[in-house]
Amino acid sequence: MDLKDKRDSLGTKTVEVCFVLPTYNEEKNIRQTVEGIFSNQILVPTSRFRVLVVDDNSSDGTQKEVTRLIAKYPDLHMITGDKKGLGDAYKRGLLYALSSFKPDFVFQMDSDGQHDPKLIPAFIEQINAGYSLVVGSRFVEGGSTPDFSFRRKFISRLGNLLVRYAGGVRHIRDCTSGYRCISSSHLEKCNLGFLSTRGYSFQSSLICELVVQGAKCKEIPITFSRRNSGSSKLSLRDQVEFILNIPKLGFHSHKDFIKYSTVGFSGLFVNLGSYIFLTRYLGMAEVVAPIISIETSLISNFLLNNFWTFKKRNLERALISRLMQFHLVMGFTGIFNYLTFFLMFKIVMVNDILANLLGIGVAAILNYLINSNWTWKK
Ligand code: GDD
Ligand code: MN
Repeated sequence: MDLKDKRDSLGTKTVEVCFVLPTYNEEKNIRQTVEGIFSNQILVPTSRFRVLVVDDNSSDGTQKEVTRLIAKYPDLHMITGDKKGLGDAYKRGLLYALSSFKPDFVFQMDSDGQHDPKLIPAFIEQINAGYSLVVGSRFVEGGSTPDFSFRRKFISRLGNLLVRYAGGVRHIRDCTSGYRCISSSHLEKCNLGFLSTRGYSFQSSLICELVVQGAKCKEIPITFSRRNSGSSKLSLRDQVEFILNIPKLGFHSHKDFIKYSTVGFSGLFVNLGSYIFLTRYLGMAEVVAPIISIETSLISNFLLNNFWTFKKRNLERALISRLMQFHLVMGFTGIFNYLTFFLMFKIVMVNDILANLLGIGVAAILNYLINSNWTWKK
């Protein structure tokens, strides 16, 4: 019988749910987490819970503890592998869960007691209400992080801000939360192998990808409480990867970026062409002509992006306000271009041409990200 088609005696469909729990040295916490999950099963009788522990060869007794628990819970499973980071463990775990258990929904959850299993029915309630992605959020009303240091709170807030704006997921307040319930049909559409992150930034890549795949998101408040035992595995390397991953989040669609760059390139010729026309044919003064030729290229870029690059987007704002936004972004990134050049040339002391290229490169990426996610926001 197909797992997805299980029905009870009344003919109600059983919803298959798989919890994927990454563990690294959670010997003292895993029992309480697993027991906490299964004790909620009775509260949602229309669901069947399975738990998959993804242990990266912990050096403590995590695997032994899980093996003992498997004897008690037949729906508990474990896969193991080398430690390459949280994201890598999730990729393996999610793919294994999808192919082996064919669940309707997958939970992501920490194994250290920071995610309260008592909230599971609240997640499932939102799933039943039609949401395909339910996020346990620390940053909506009612959510909190009582145990976070000022530094961790700052990093988390800033990280979320960057993900929300660069990744086009402004509507989600907690994009890095590790407590989520995801519909398998949306998860299957995501190319997990393509999400290149290995560490914690996998969480932000995945949420952006899910939204691109059309996931309808609901956040419910959670209290991200103290760890039961042990300490966080978030490393400096994870934080660096997180920052480097931010620009990638914006490039959801490579096609859009290629088109945008082509338009940008065409602007160069429009600008130069108008300048030659104005000075050589109309006899305009050299100091005045660029003002008009720059504006001409801006308008031609705007029109090409509007009617070609982002043609398929459903937009809210009027054309004229988009044109204003485009000008603002151009002005802002122009300043950024100059500042990067200045920093590189005067302070880092690289060659002027290289400094200029770096300035243009940084500004072009920033430019695309802001225009794509603000000016032509879907
Ligand atoms: N298999 C595996 N491999 N598990 C890992 C690894 C790894 O390399 N690194 C961490 N884990 C497991 C931990 O054992 C724990 O169960 C869970 O992943 C979360 O790790 P913590 O080290 O406890 O993370 P945290 O509490 O600092 O971070 C939480 O908040 C972040 C956002 O602030 C997590 O929920 C993250 O997912 C979240 O991004
Ligand atoms: Mn934790």
